[in-house]
Amino acid sequence: MIIFLNNKYLPLEEANISPLDRGFLFADGVYEFLRTYNCKLFRFDDHYNRLKYSAEELGLAVPGKGNLKYIINELVTKNHFSTKEYSVYIQITRGASFPRLHKFPVADCEQTMLIWLSNISSNGIENENGVKTILLKDLRWGRCDIKSISLLPNVMAKQKAVESNAVEAILMREGYITEGSHTNVFSIKNSVVSTAPLSNFVLNGITRKVVIELCKNHELKISERNILIDEILGADEIFLTGTSTEIKPVVEVNGVEINKGLPGEITKIIQHLFYDYVKEN
Ligand code: PDD
Repeated sequence: MIIFLNNKYLPLEEANISPLDRGFLFADGVYEFLRTYNCKLFRFDDHYNRLKYSAEELGLAVPGKGNLKYIINELVTKNHFSTKEYSVYIQITRGASFPRLHKFPVADCEQTMLIWLSNISSNGIENENGVKTILLKDLRWGRCDIKSISLLPNVMAKQKAVESNAVEAILMREGYITEGSHTNVFSIKNSVVSTAPLSNFVLNGITRKVVIELCKNHELKISERNILIDEILGADEIFLTGTSTEIKPVVEVNGVEINKGLPGEITKIIQHLFYDYVKEN
């Protein structure tokens, strides 16, 4: 596997990062995760803009859009990628600096940029049958709008879900649902599709954005509003969205069955709209 690290294309085994990298020491960095459908990077501009937003909020620089696309294409060639569907992981950190000081270094620091491509595993069964979830307290920081590499609360929440035989943890803050450990959350009641409004506690998910657009364009009622915990437990349907998750029906929350344990009809309509949309975009 050939990866891109600091202006070099290298076999993974030959790639080294300094132990002084602030990504390693402080989680001082951002990331982005995107994928292709039929060879084409899906909503590249949206992912690029989010990366730029996250980076700029932390005083980090991003490469130009053309440059980033060029690197990704080089990685496709160098890895002899023949699949039409692959994912792209991009990470930018503030780089290595000594001594270890919390404040941003001024002179001796060059950012670290890491990019790799990967195959995508299918969502088949889960997205057809739906998945179980649990509710957990949202322990994350106050800037979840930044796609920061500081993901420990997300990792802990996901692990707790796995240990509970569930696939995702739905996070709660002050009585409301924010999002999942690595997904956005939608609930449906009386044919109205709802998701938490964007805030410093919710990531501006690109799949979330696409779903909102699709609902608006196909006359499905959509509302960005705060969702109470009781509403989630009493929802007619629930689904999760994310780049690798796509549209994943939720059939259980904390042991409570949703829609008698089956993916809901509106969720299935949105799944179809989504798969049609990605074929054409
Ligand atoms: N996760 N919310 C959180 C906290 C996320 O980490 C993600 C994505 C999403 C969905 O965003 P999008 O639709 O743009 O993928 C929502 C990525 C995939 C990850 O951590 O690997």
